[in-house]
Amino acid sequence: MKEVLDLKRIPKHIAIIMDGNGRWAKKKGAMRIFGHRNAIQAVKDAIEGAENLGVKFLTLFSFSTENWSRPQEEINGLMELLVKTITDEVPMMMKNNIRLESIGDLDSLPSAAYEKLMEAKRTTGQNDGLTVILALSYSGQWEITQATKRIAQKISEGKLKVEDINQQVVADHLETAGIPDPELMIRTSGEFRISNFLLWQLAYTELHFTPVLWPDFRREHLVAAILDYQQRERRFGKTGEQIKS
Ligand code: IPE
Ligand code: IPE
Ligand code: MG
Repeated sequence: MKEVLDLKRIPKHIAIIMDGNGRWAKKKGAMRIFGHRNAIQAVKDAIEGAENLGVKFLTLFSFSTENWSRPQEEINGLMELLVKTITDEVPMMMKNNIRLESIGDLDSLPSAAYEKLMEAKRTTGQNDGLTVILALSYSGQWEITQATKRIAQKISEGKLKVEDINQQVVADHLETAGIPDPELMIRTSGEFRISNFLLWQLAYTELHFTPVLWPDFRREHLVAAILDYQQRERRFGKTGEQIKS
């Protein structure tokens, strides 16, 4: 399946809204947490697929700011699953030269999840293959608000002038500072919305929506999404003729 792709035009950065675990479980007459547990194989497939194709950054929307409004039992289950998955997968990341990173309000995580994440980031910190970025307690509006506060702080301390604020300065104060914007964003489960994911970074990203529920997502779905991306004409505001010349 990989053969159908133009390997010279693989996106550097792919972002995924991993959605549909609850509906997957419901279809099987099971509890929502059963769907979350079965999502781990999809996460592994996405990571291994991305690594194999030479993708440099893979951002996975794992838990949103708004997800804190879910039933406490589901939140606890998700946080336990996070700790277990990180523990289980660090050896795979070391073997494949994968670095773990994160974006989001980590201070709001339960301490076990926070500690495990920090430990895994330290352990994998020197790897320079694929970077997997977990978006945890993350939302785009939260991130832009944080960046605004950081910039305002620098101005009040005299370290930055208002007239020096430009798009690059804003980008440099986001959680994703230094990471290129995603060329491709995938959302599973047939929902056509962004749900407060990378609002700034998705400005010119190609969007791929698939009805596949996240626990069923496999490498072939990743390849199909990249193939879809490779058939798009990215114009960035220019005319089609300008792009071709
Ligand atoms: C995505 O699946 C996982 C998280 C948001 C943590 P959902 O749990 O949102 O599944 P649906 O959308 O209810 O099917
Ligand atoms: C988005 O999915 C968040 C994650 C995948 C972590 P949701 O299931 O929370 O999004 P909505 O509520 O359907 O927009
Ligand atoms: Mg959902």
